[in-house]
Amino acid sequence: MSMGTKISRMYMPLAVAATLAMALSACSGGTGGGTEGGGGGAASENLDARGPITYVQGKDNSEVIRPLVDKWNAAHPNETVTFKEQTDKADQQHDDLVQRFQAKNGDYDVASVDVVWTAEFAAKGWLQPLKDKMAIDTTGFLPATVEAATYKDTLYAAPQTSDGGILYYRKDLVATPPTTWEEMLAMCPIAKEKGIDCYAGQFAQYEGLTVNVAEAINTAGGTIVDKDGKATVDTAEAKAGMTNLVQAYKDGNIPKQAVTYQEEQGRISFEEGKLMFLRNWPYVYNLAKSEGSSTVKDTFGIAPLPGKDGPGASTLGGHSLAISVDSKYKATAKDFTAFMITEETQKFYATQGSLAPVMESLYTDAELVAKLPYLPVLLTSIQNAVPRPVTPFYPAVTLAIQQNSFAAISGTKSVDQAMTDMQAAIAAAGSK
Ligand code: GLC
Repeated sequence: MSMGTKISRMYMPLAVAATLAMALSACSGGTGGGTEGGGGGAASENLDARGPITYVQGKDNSEVIRPLVDKWNAAHPNETVTFKEQTDKADQQHDDLVQRFQAKNGDYDVASVDVVWTAEFAAKGWLQPLKDKMAIDTTGFLPATVEAATYKDTLYAAPQTSDGGILYYRKDLVATPPTTWEEMLAMCPIAKEKGIDCYAGQFAQYEGLTVNVAEAINTAGGTIVDKDGKATVDTAEAKAGMTNLVQAYKDGNIPKQAVTYQEEQGRISFEEGKLMFLRNWPYVYNLAKSEGSSTVKDTFGIAPLPGKDGPGASTLGGHSLAISVDSKYKATAKDFTAFMITEETQKFYATQGSLAPVMESLYTDAELVAKLPYLPVLLTSIQNAVPRPVTPFYPAVTLAIQQNSFAAISGTKSVDQAMTDMQAAIAAAGSK
C-alpha cells in the first residue's frame, strides 16, 4: 500500500470530537488566536518582533541541540536562544508544555511537539498557524511528517525529525534477524541459554506503551480507530495483536521488568548486553555504537520490526517545531524554526544523533547512506508507519489504550475484558 493511501486512511480526525473541541475551547474563552487558522488576537500579534527567545524540547540524548543553539547565538547576538531541556519522558514533556501554554505568558517561544500533540495544542489555540508571514517551507518533506504537523488544513508546526520503530538485535547471537513475531519468539531459547532477556519494547504505562500496543494491533491486521475516528479495538485482529504481547510477557520472553521500561531503560539494558532484541527508535543507533558504556558496539544489527507474515507495522513517531501563539518575538521564533529544519541541520541530526530526517532526499543521499547504513531500513519503517489517532482529545484516547493494555499485560484483566473496556473508553474520550 502506498504511503499516501495509508496516511489518508489513518489521518481522518475524530470529526465529532474535533467539533466539540472547538466548541469547548471557544467557551473557555482562553484561546487567544482562536482555533481556525488564528485570524485575530494573539495569532496576529508580535509577527515582526525580534528578541531573545526560549526553545524547549525533551532530553537532548545525543547532544544535537546545544551545538545548533550555540551556532545560532553566535550569529544572532540580539536574538539569542535559551535552550530549556526537559526530561527524557514523553508524558512529562507533554504536561510541562500544557502547563506553560495554559499560563499564556509566552515563556516558551518555540517548542518541540510530538506528532500526537499537534491536534490537541492547535485546537486549544496555543500554536501559531504557520501561514502568510509565518509560513514555513516544507517542500521535499516526507508527506507523513507534514500531515502530522497539520490540523484542519493548517500547518501548525514545522516537521523537525521523524521516527519509526526498528528492531535492534544481536548479530553475534542471531545470524539472520527474524522477520515475524513467531520467528523472533522461536529464537528466545538462545537468549535464555546466554542468561539474558529476549525481547523488550516500551511497556511502562505512558505514551510509549500506546506506541507498542498500536504496533502489535496494526501488525495483526487490526486498527485502533476507523477512518471516521470510531474505536475499533474490540475485534478479533486487535485482540490477536494484544494477545501476542500478553502471552510473550507471561512466558517470560518479554522480561518481568519490561513493564517499567520507557525508551532509555530498554536502550541501557541492550547496551549492557542484557537483551537480545529491542524495539526502539533510531536515536539508539548512534548511542549504542558510540557510548563508552555500550558493550554491543560491534555486535548489534538493525532490522524492520517483526510482523505477521513479513515486516510489522511501525507506529509513526516524530517531532515538529511549534511557535507559541503568545511568543513576544515571533520573527525570531520563525527564523530559528527555519534554521532548525534546513537540509544542513537535518544532516546534522542524522550524523550526530541518528535521528530520522524529515527530508525525503536525505534517505538516498549517497554520502549520508555510506555513513549511516541503517537509513534504508529506517525509510521503510517510516513509509509504512501507521499514525496514532488524530484528535484534540488524544490524552484521553491514549490513556484508554495505556490503562487497559497495561492491565492485560500485567494480568489484572483478560485480553477480552481489556479490549472491551478500551473500546468503551476510546469512544467516551471523543465526547469528553
Ligand atoms: C518518541 C516518538 C514519539 C513518541 C514517543 C513515545 O519520542 O518520536 O512520537 O510519542 O517516542 O515515548
